[in-house]
Amino acid sequence: MQFAVNVFVDLTERKELELRRDEFISMASHELKTPVTSLKGFTQVLYRRFKKRGEEEPLNFLARMDGQLNKLTKLINDLLDLSKLQTGKLTVQEEAFNLADVVRDIVDTLQATSQTHQLVLEETTHVEVFGDKDRIEQVLINLLTNAMKYSPQANRVIIRVSTEHEQAIVSVQDFGIGIAEAHQQKIFERFYQVTDPMEKTFPGLGIGLFISNEIIKQHHGQMWVVSSKGDGATFKFTLPLYKG
Ligand SMILES: Nc1ncnc2c1ncn2[C@@H]1O[C@H](COP(=O)(O)OP(=O)(O)OP(=O)(O)O)[C@@H](O)[C@H]1O
Ligand SMILES: [Mg+2]
Repeated sequence: MQFAVNVFVDLTERKELELRRDEFISMASHELKTPVTSLKGFTQVLYRRFKKRGEEEPLNFLARMDGQLNKLTKLINDLLDLSKLQTGKLTVQEEAFNLADVVRDIVDTLQATSQTHQLVLEETTHVEVFGDKDRIEQVLINLLTNAMKYSPQANRVIIRVSTEHEQAIVSVQDFGIGIAEAHQQKIFERFYQVTDPMEKTFPGLGIGLFISNEIIKQHHGQMWVVSSKGDGATFKFTLPLYKG
């Protein structure tokens, strides 16, 4: 009996600590957003001024500053999404859109910033889905950046959009380090990262896939990975078709 009481106390204490941690994450990310937005604004003002004056050297530094600020913004937004998910406040807008157009847009945008990989849209079909376009874009960005990040030796990522069993399917295939069977479910949990002493460590918080999977679940779709260690990975997700 005493044991049971202790376990109970431990659990409530843990719940409380978790709650406080989640509140902290939410507050800290909100507080960080304002100064970062203002830093980004001033960086752009300076960039324009130096450009007008034809001064090249500071432009290079400012462009790098802007790049780092973008990374920071992405991190803050991920943390904000995480706390929204925790409190059930991540809502999705609902509109009908052509998934193939959205995929092409994101592929083009990311291609413009990648010097290492070619993003090949190998198969595509016009397919209307119903959901939150911005959130689906966020999922695509997460999968494509992962595909490039975890395939440092490769130079190609293949993207496909198709339909099967009354559903739209998007797949993102890379030729990188792959994921061993034992980790394939866990990588969708928050903060889970595969660590391998033989491999270099990759930066990140381990929340991109968690958020992406939750977004797809809210759309009544599914996300999974097909992979084996050392042999690349193919991430796939489905979305219900829009029936008008
Ligand atoms: N394409 C991939 N190939 C191999 N491993 C992957 C791939 N995508 C994800 N992983 C593994 O799954 C883990 C979780 O991915 P996730 O995107 O959630 O986090 P992250 O990339 O580490 O950080 P971030 O929060 O910045 O996205 C990664 O740390 C990595 O170990
Ligand atoms: Mg990631």
